[in-house]
Amino acid sequence: MNPFSKYINSENKVSAHLELLNESFIPDSFPHREEEIQHLVDILSSVIRNTRPSNILIYGKTGTGKTSTTRHVISLLKEATNDRVTTCYLNCQVNDTPYSVLTTIVNGLSDAGEKIPLLGWTTDRIYGELVSRINGLSGFVIIILDEIDKLVEKSGGDSLYVVLKILEESTLSKVSIIGITNDTNIMSQMEPRIKSRMNQESLIFPPYNATQLKDILKFRLRGVTNEGLVDEGAISLCAAIGAQENGDARKVINLMRIAIEIAERNGCEKVTEKEVYAARDKFEMDVVKETILTLPLHNKIILLSTIVTQELSDKLLITGEIMDNYRAICNELGFQALTSRRASDILSELEELGLVITTTKSLGRYGRTRFVRINGDLAIFKKYVLEDDNLSLFKGKNVTRQARFDNISGEERLTKEGFDEFINKMDQSDDDS
Ligand SMILES: Nc1ncnc2c1ncn2[C@@H]1O[C@H](COP(=O)(O)OP(=O)(O)OP(=O)(O)O)[C@@H](O)[C@H]1O
Ligand SMILES: [Mg+2]
Repeated sequence: MNPFSKYINSENKVSAHLELLNESFIPDSFPHREEEIQHLVDILSSVIRNTRPSNILIYGKTGTGKTSTTRHVISLLKEATNDRVTTCYLNCQVNDTPYSVLTTIVNGLSDAGEKIPLLGWTTDRIYGELVSRINGLSGFVIIILDEIDKLVEKSGGDSLYVVLKILEESTLSKVSIIGITNDTNIMSQMEPRIKSRMNQESLIFPPYNATQLKDILKFRLRGVTNEGLVDEGAISLCAAIGAQENGDARKVINLMRIAIEIAERNGCEKVTEKEVYAARDKFEMDVVKETILTLPLHNKIILLSTIVTQELSDKLLITGEIMDNYRAICNELGFQALTSRRASDILSELEELGLVITTTKSLGRYGRTRFVRINGDLAIFKKYVLEDDNLSLFKGKNVTRQARFDNISGEERLTKEGFDEFINKMDQSDDDS
């Protein structure tokens, strides 16, 4: 029997227009962003009075609606001015060097002219092209640099300055820039010469609370499913989860989309809390999978070393054992092991990604000791790591455990709370001795 047939024959009780919940879909209104929209409109309305709008810096945590609200306002502005405003949106995660930002702007400014190649032009030549194209436009130009922190992060502190300076000098006071970032740290570290250019106006998008997220979700669900197909409880639960995650509307919308998919697939009558919980589990697993699959090779090997060391026994794991096994695995697979210093940095990177948890303790006779454990399901983590072709021959034959802390055992320390409590207890018994 064709395995798809059960889906074809079964009548879908929950049928939905899920494309309305895709990130690329920009709604025509944004509940709880009325003030921010009005503020943007006030600043940008100066183009109607024939004055260049101030540059604007927008910041706020992830999923607070910065990108979509800005794009929405820009399209309203174009509509109101009959397209007399030229706009250019670019994401600095993708365009992460001054060269790439500037060429993308030049290429985006007019559909007509020759496209600048993505490599090879001198800055002077790009500059000249920018000046001539901007001169050729009659109205104002608004350039949106989304995720500007990525430009600074990847190409250094000067890169944003270079972009701003070139735009400023080439533009005959026609260009305004809207910068968007979710990294407030970067803003406080910004040099004064950049700040004074970027920060003529700034706008903060505060995180949404659970009630606001609920309104937003209800609004976004219009037209997606028939009325009443999604339980009130399911909506509240999605909103509550999103509120815990720093008020992230993207998370809430994605969770609901996955919950609806699950309900559709299982032939449910309704989307309930149960599907939301299942969606959350799937979501978290997807994030873990994506994180592991995209790790650089040696980060994967160190993660693998941690996994197999912990697999050998549930005794407390220390950095030294992981490093020994890391070298053993490199040896087995024919890779040159990195220095201990670098390997130890990688362990910290894995911790930042939430894949491992480490605790460093001063343990009297042992000195400063860093304990490590995998933050998740060993078997699942291992499966994802071993999806890397470079590791397909891994057998782990030379992996060993010293289990220096052999006298210590117990399941509970493999949970986060248990782990901390356990180490504290060990601290005390050490002090006693
Ligand atoms: N008030 C709102 N009403 C309806 N949908 C919203 C609202 N706020 C955010 N969204 C939706 O949530 C998702 C995330 O929003 P957006 O991409 O604008 O966030 P962001 O602040 O740019 O996040 P990041 O910093 O991660 O880029 C989008 O699909 C957007 O349409
Ligand atoms: Mg964004």
